[in-house]
Amino acid sequence: MTLDARERLIVALDLPSVKSAEAMVAKLGESVCFYKIGYQLAFAGGLPFAAGLIAAGKQVFLDLKLHDIGNTVSKGVESVAQLGATFLTVHAYPQTMKAAVEGKRGSTLRILAVTVLTSYDDADLAAAGYDLGVGELAAARAAQARDTGIDGLVCSAEETANLRGIVGPGMVLVTPGIRPAGTASGDQKRIMTPARAIEAGADYLVVGRPVVEARDPKAAADAIVAEIEQVTGK
Ligand code: C5P
Repeated sequence: MTLDARERLIVALDLPSVKSAEAMVAKLGESVCFYKIGYQLAFAGGLPFAAGLIAAGKQVFLDLKLHDIGNTVSKGVESVAQLGATFLTVHAYPQTMKAAVEGKRGSTLRILAVTVLTSYDDADLAAAGYDLGVGELAAARAAQARDTGIDGLVCSAEETANLRGIVGPGMVLVTPGIRPAGTASGDQKRIMTPARAIEAGADYLVVGRPVVEARDPKAAADAIVAEIEQVTGK
């Protein structure tokens, strides 16, 4: 993959309002070119804001984890494609993934599948009616994502090597749970430094609090990019 280090950093705008997101984007300036918008900001005016970011030359990852009947997913994905987003997440159910791939046809939008939510363990899956454990279900869904024409997966850095073996070199692996040395882990349990996550095979890193809660967010972002560059050489 021919990405520059800076293009691999996705900053999660987990903020309550467009005003606070605008202030963060202004602070980060040219240091960050890719932003993730999730439920919190999306449902607080974040979708028109995303369109503005795209118009200003930034890339946007809409982390909306879609899952519904095929027709609804497909039409929703068409609208996201028209917005100009780069990445969109869907849950890795075969019908949902197939509909998402149909909905994005002809656009530059790339669909990322969430195999199994990281807050789920085997007991949570059993309670939800599944016979498979987390590892087995994640592996099965990764293979289905590959076979459906999904563009990438969201996964923890620990999972990247195993999943890369399943999906091959053509899909992107996008990894949250990143913590530069010396920063607080917060509620993340399986964390890796930016350099180690890239070495493990991640293509993109999603970083929230270590950047947006830093005293100097721009310096924090620049330090992560420098760390990525040490591994990738560019
Ligand atoms: O602040 P922090 O760096 O922990 O933020 C990580 C971001 O990645 C959050 O927006 C979180 O929702 C998202 N994420 C995650 N773990 C997943 C999927 C998404 O932390 N398995």
